[in-house]
Amino acid sequence: MKKLLSTILLGGLFMANAAAKTLVVYYSYSDTGNTRRIAQEIQKKTGADIAEIEPVVPYSDNYDEVVDKAKRDVARNFKPEIKPLKVSLSDYDTIIIGTPTWWYKMASPVLTFMSSSDFSGKKVALFCTHAGWPGTVIKDMSALCTGADVFATQEIQFGTRAKAGSLVTKQPEIDDFIAKIQKNQRR
Ligand SMILES: Cc1cc2nc3c(=O)[nH]c(=O)nc-3n(C[C@H](O)[C@H](O)[C@H](O)COP(=O)(O)O)c2cc1C
Repeated sequence: MKKLLSTILLGGLFMANAAAKTLVVYYSYSDTGNTRRIAQEIQKKTGADIAEIEPVVPYSDNYDEVVDKAKRDVARNFKPEIKPLKVSLSDYDTIIIGTPTWWYKMASPVLTFMSSSDFSGKKVALFCTHAGWPGTVIKDMSALCTGADVFATQEIQFGTRAKAGSLVTKQPEIDDFIAKIQKNQRR
């Protein structure tokens, strides 16, 4: 009985550990939360953990003000201070990173996160959400993954201002991206 119990307990521990090996890290600004929505979908379908990147000084609620500020910030590669993540990257072997597109680049808080993290030896998947102009986001994010195996990337388009929360990219394309993450979890 004792042996059976410890086997069950150990098995449980092993499963919890296996399920906790993938982490989704994302930043999302707009009130439709496009990047959050995709991050949560990945979390739900893969059993990954999830962590949100939060700037220490929150951005204004005024969208146009943020668009203006971000134009200047992005142009000079400004890295706003961010709060420490609520998890430790060292606990995960696979990291999924999601960002909105800001002026053809990754959002500034994601630049801070990626520039200050070590992804070497990890498996990484990258996605950006955008409104039709994804620029060089995926290329720029990939360049910050020195020593990592970037096994999947995806640009995901949503509508512009009036239809900001509506998905333009077809769901099967997103499903394929998530399937690559699931396949990676089995390798
Ligand atoms: C500051 C700012 C700059 C943006 N620049 C771009 C851009 O260059 N290209 C683009 O396609 N969309 C751009 N957008 C639209 C967002 O990338 C898009 O709506 C994204 O899905 C928003 O993600 P979120 O809801 O997680 O914040 C910009 C939005 C903001 C707020």
